[in-house]
Amino acid sequence: MAIEKTFSIIKPDAVERGLIAEILKMITDTGLKVKAMKLIHMDRPQAEGFYAVHKERPFFNELVEYMISGPVVVSCLEGENAIEKYRTLMGSTNPADAAEGTIRAAYGIDIQNNSCHGSDGPDTAKIEVAYFFNDDELVG
Ligand code: CDP
Ligand code: MG
Repeated sequence: MAIEKTFSIIKPDAVERGLIAEILKMITDTGLKVKAMKLIHMDRPQAEGFYAVHKERPFFNELVEYMISGPVVVSCLEGENAIEKYRTLMGSTNPADAAEGTIRAAYGIDIQNNSCHGSDGPDTAKIEVAYFFNDDELVG
């Protein structure tokens, strides 16, 4: 299996509740390595651009409001099969449906306040990493 990079956000609901360390531990316990990381507070255009694929969805405006409601931790993760591995670790979008042992089952509040984001494929991973990080911000 190939070494991949993926993009992660620890979302405002989780940062607000002091869960950065807990979620990072779950991530690194799976063997994924952090290649780049920063704490940021997105502005509206940045959040709208990031979620542009969802702009026709009924939840778009609320999603943007939520994502700019407080700081988030953005990171680039790397490892074998990283994209799928991290999606599995996150669990289903709705925490009520998320499997035991996943981040969303442990910490998600509801379908919006679900504590984490992870890229859903190789193309989006590339776009999303580049949206927040320059090449020279990735270690190694
Ligand atoms: O994050 P994931 O890829 O699992 O789900 P998505 O369908 O790409 O939706 C992006 C984000 O929008 C979710 O993680 C939720 O925070 C939010 N969302 C929502 O507020 N209401 C929904 N019905 C679906 C998603
Ligand atoms: Mg998604």
